[in-house]
Amino acid sequence: LQSTLCRLKEKVRDIPDFPKKGVLFRDITPLIGDGQFFRLVMMIFLERYQRRKIDKIAAIDARGFIFAGALAHILGIGLIPIRKKGKLPYQTFETQYASEYGLNTLTIHRDAMRKGEQVLILDDVLATGGTAEAAAKLVESCGGSLVELGFLMELRGLKGKERLSRYPVYSILQFP
Ligand code: PRP
Ligand code: HPA
Repeated sequence: LQSTLCRLKEKVRDIPDFPKKGVLFRDITPLIGDGQFFRLVMMIFLERYQRRKIDKIAAIDARGFIFAGALAHILGIGLIPIRKKGKLPYQTFETQYASEYGLNTLTIHRDAMRKGEQVLILDDVLATGGTAEAAAKLVESCGGSLVELGFLMELRGLKGKERLSRYPVYSILQFP
């Protein structure tokens, strides 16, 4: 397993100074662009979540849609988009949050889930945790019960896991 994870990590590309100077951006496009590796990631998520009781998968705009969509499809579970403000057409709850790069607002449809439903949130990257924390609050606003926050990768230096300490957090890959 360790060697598999190393091979996966090698498919993440480092881009210095993106989107602004001083940020080392971890780019997942080489990983998801290779069918074998994308499938491997989805098999790892599947193995972790297939025996859990999950009613809905909530996906974070935009890169979270890639993994959440694929997992919802394999498991036959409904997908709930958590979107940046101004994108969802029906009544929403919204939460403002600070990301690595500035202030943003995430939204969810008010009727996205029933009270007490077990909800898994998925995204590609856990950085400062601001986005994920906002997503967790939105799920709770809708009455959902959070099963876990799952990520392809965690950027440890940004302390997102500490910020999310009151929730269960899982990541396949960890970077410094
Ligand atoms: C990235 C990433 C996570 C978030 C992580 O999304 O996909 O959602 O930032 O950062 P945080 O832990 O510091 O909040 P971004 O907001 O860049 O949007 P995108 O998926 O639309 O590119
Ligand atoms: N890579 C991808 N997404 C991100 C990053 C990163 O380094 N930081 C915040 N979101």
